[in-house]
Amino acid sequence: MKTQVNGVTIAYDDRGTGIPIVFLHAFPLNRTMWIQQQAALGQRFRTISIDLRGHGESDAPFWRYSLEQYASDVKEVLAGLGIARAVFVGLSMGGYLEFTLYRLYPELILGLVFADTRAEADKPEQRQWRFDLAQRTASLGSAAVIADMLPKLLAPKTYERDPDLVEWVRSIQAAAPVAGIIGDLMAMAERPDSVDLLSSITIPTLVIVGEDDVLTTPADAQRIANGIPGAKLVVIPGAGHLSNMDQPDLFSRAVGEFAAGLSTRLA
Ligand code: MLT
Repeated sequence: MKTQVNGVTIAYDDRGTGIPIVFLHAFPLNRTMWIQQQAALGQRFRTISIDLRGHGESDAPFWRYSLEQYASDVKEVLAGLGIARAVFVGLSMGGYLEFTLYRLYPELILGLVFADTRAEADKPEQRQWRFDLAQRTASLGSAAVIADMLPKLLAPKTYERDPDLVEWVRSIQAAAPVAGIIGDLMAMAERPDSVDLLSSITIPTLVIVGEDDVLTTPADAQRIANGIPGAKLVVIPGAGHLSNMDQPDLFSRAVGEFAAGLSTRLA
């Protein structure tokens, strides 16, 4: 499905009925990374996955990328679908986007699932890496991202055990438009620190992390969970950074149990 918001076409999937769960993808992937969660949860919930601008089947203009812009696009997509409040599930960059949604549109949020993400802003060396990767992407395309990131996205055992999954992740990265990759890198480099925000979050929160995540580690997740009053932490064994793709059943179960517990808040 496609819709026009803020001057661009945004693609999304909207399936099922019940509490809306909105899935926000990682850098520089797209909504197909959530296929298994939509299959597992689609009988009990309304699941919405969105291609952020610059990704998947959404437009990829060479202009206007920021987490605030992504948040506005998400808000407009949900308004078009008549969704006033939802549970948000954001993985990595999707988690950075959740902090932005919380800052700008807290009224939209029924529950938060921060997956394999962090609250801290970039350190200078991370910003430098993003700048360098953007320059390499401009000349090499998505191959630059694959070279830097593919070896770090899944648990070590997955690379031996499941070549099909590795190839699936590679193919999603390969399809990422240059405008979207560079747009994400700028948006993430410029994001503010969200550590001071944590103690103000009164929305029910689940934090999920793959135990083998080397990009946003279990310690990063623990800091989010410690900071948000009442937040629960789930560590997924045998999963790396893309924990929802590495261990889809465990990930879906954790999200399903969390979302089911929020039904009375939607009334
Ligand atoms: C992601 O998976 O979205 C990225 O690893 C996030 C980042 O580069 O900080």
